[in-house]
Amino acid sequence: MTDSSRPKVVTTVAELRDTLASVRRAGGKIGLVPTMGALHEGHLSLVRRAKAECDYTVVSIYVNPSQFGPQEDLGSYPRTLEADLDALAGCGVELAFVPVDQEVYGQGHATWVEVGSVAEPLEGQCRPGHFCGVATIVLKLFNMVGAEVAYFGQKDYQQALVIRRMVEDLDLPIELRVCPIVREADGLAMSSRNAYLSLGGRQRALVLYRSLQLASELVRQGQRDPRTIAERMRAVITTAEDARIDYIALVDPDTLEPVGRITSPTLAALAVRIENTRLIDNCLLNAEF
Ligand code: PAF
Repeated sequence: MTDSSRPKVVTTVAELRDTLASVRRAGGKIGLVPTMGALHEGHLSLVRRAKAECDYTVVSIYVNPSQFGPQEDLGSYPRTLEADLDALAGCGVELAFVPVDQEVYGQGHATWVEVGSVAEPLEGQCRPGHFCGVATIVLKLFNMVGAEVAYFGQKDYQQALVIRRMVEDLDLPIELRVCPIVREADGLAMSSRNAYLSLGGRQRALVLYRSLQLASELVRQGQRDPRTIAERMRAVITTAEDARIDYIALVDPDTLEPVGRITSPTLAALAVRIENTRLIDNCLLNAEF
């Protein structure tokens, strides 16, 4: 296929398996990029990596209802399928899997995946049930597609940890690649939810990145007390008058347990609402320890 032709779009698991059977028979390596659509450069960086490493790239586009809480933005989540397919055409993606809810959660669906401790703090605490929905849909997508490799973004750091745990615990035959956060020129982490922000909100949302930059700088200068760093980050974030902080966390990057002192690479993770849009961001604080 040429770079400008759109991917084949399939909506059922039967069509998906049928299409992939010939790729598999020919020994092709299949890469999967699971998304909820509203694609931006962050997603496309995963797609390009999949294209570079695999023979055949499947992008799933599905706004998974089971990972949204009752008060969350399932109804208003941006749905931009035509633009998404154009963007995937530009990357030379072979297949887009775009199922409807009945295809994914058939009548009587009653099986859910619960991942333990890494799913509990941070997002797990603020969004009860979120990771159960994520782990369940990701396992289903892994089973539907049967890819050799799957691609996730580091912006959803905890999500990637939860999926890695699930893959290890359930012996899933798939490799994971977690790719770097893609930022706008001014530092805002790319997210489909950025589209909710007004111009002013978009500007105020820069406090997330600025606070992470400050945390990195403080650690670089020798600050090792996580409470001091979190306080300094809070001071930056609250310069945005409508910022509501869900959490500022300095945690072990593998277990997500809070650190008492920074003596090894530490994850700084944030969830902040600006204009009622919930934004997350993170960075690894690294220094000469
Ligand atoms: O990161 C996302 O977009 C979603 O959580 C995922 C992995 C596609 C599951 O719905």
